[in-house]
Amino acid sequence: MSEKEALYRELAEQAASLLEGETDRIVAMANLSALIYELLPGLNWAGFYRVDDGGNLVLGPFQGKVACTRIPRGRGVCGTALASGESQLVPDVHAFPGHIACDSASNAEVVVPVRDAAGEIWAVLDLDSPTLSRFDETDRAGLEAVAALLR
Ligand code: SME
Repeated sequence: MSEKEALYRELAEQAASLLEGETDRIVAMANLSALIYELLPGLNWAGFYRVDDGGNLVLGPFQGKVACTRIPRGRGVCGTALASGESQLVPDVHAFPGHIACDSASNAEVVVPVRDAAGEIWAVLDLDSPTLSRFDETDRAGLEAVAALLR
């Protein structure tokens, strides 16, 4: 197991105990964003956007600088993750068509859909980094495993 895989195993274990018995999504997202931001190196933003009643994204609990509050479905990296239902691994956000720059320091991004028990996406988990190519397949898989702990 690589060092990064071990870190994600630790993250998943801590997240599972943090979320155990917690049914309130705000509580879960708030503590999970804090845990991710503290544990993973090289981030400048970690948090959630929730799907609102109109099927677009609205800012949820996060750690980092103030962020864009509303993102239309299909726009930017987060809106693309929602519309496609697929995680987005972006080594250079400046090369991503329609990327929404909340913080000019961000250069790389990974966004993972969060689904309920029926498979419906109700939020996305978004991580940003100032380091180009900061995120790889290990990050994607590790974050998908953590997102799967949320229901
Ligand atoms: N860059 C994102 C917007 C959210 S912020 O990074 C916090 C995007 O293009 O969806």
